[in-house]
Amino acid sequence: MYKPNIPVISLLILSFAAVLLRSQSIYPSRYDGFVYKKRAASTDTVLIEAFYDPVCPDSRDSWAPLKQAVDHYGPTVVSLIVHTFPLPYHDNAFITSRVLHIVNDLNSSATYPLLEAFFKYQNQFYNAKTNNISRAAALDKVIGFASRTLGNSIQSAIRSGFSDTKTSTKTRVSFKYGCMRGVYGTPFFFVNGFLVPVTDDDMIDYNGWRKIIDPLTTKQGKNEYPLTIF
Ligand SMILES: *[C@@H]1O[C@H](CO)[C@@H](O)[C@H](O)[C@H]1NC(C)=O
Ligand SMILES: *[C@@H]1O[C@H](CO)[C@@H](O)[C@H](O)[C@H]1NC(C)=O
Repeated sequence: MYKPNIPVISLLILSFAAVLLRSQSIYPSRYDGFVYKKRAASTDTVLIEAFYDPVCPDSRDSWAPLKQAVDHYGPTVVSLIVHTFPLPYHDNAFITSRVLHIVNDLNSSATYPLLEAFFKYQNQFYNAKTNNISRAAALDKVIGFASRTLGNSIQSAIRSGFSDTKTSTKTRVSFKYGCMRGVYGTPFFFVNGFLVPVTDDDMIDYNGWRKIIDPLTTKQGKNEYPLTIF
């Protein structure tokens, strides 16, 4: 005769409840990410999404060709959203991502200039370079860097951004969002929601991006799917 196993069933109910509770609290108020040049990201454009770690060399190397390709198309044709994805093995990845979220709230025109500055000088924030300094000193270094890049008048606003838990939540949301989409490294790219397959030694250059985007922007290409998928 079947005897219900009460402890197992209660455990199951508890874990379902935990999943429910977790999914209730997760919705961010807006879609995650930094919209490039305030181009309207909509289903009317080819939407490229990049998951970047500000202190990752591969993210840095991939940015110039992607930017050049996106700039080649008009704002009504291609849009770009960058999501931060701080990798756990890069010591300053979370605070450098968080300062981007802080700055994006203060002045969204400053987000991409700061991201580019991190890419340019990211070696200052590598593990070995900050190995001997405290976490507080590393945070000061990040705040100082962002302020020097954007103008010292922004410094106190950035510093108070770091004591606002909302900016931590935003940075966590980006990370969780990446996890939900299967991101496990940087850079990861999606085109209209579909993952772009890349390997470490197969960086997409400008022509590579053109080859991906061009067919999606022609009249015939629009709203059609390659038959080979079906
Ligand atoms: C916002 O940032 C941009 C780019 O750094 C800058 O040119 C502009 O003056 C800033 N706006 C304000 C209100 O600080
Ligand atoms: C960190 O400290 C060690 C031991 O004191 C020293 O050998 C090393 O050069 C220091 N590294 C940096 C980046 O300052």
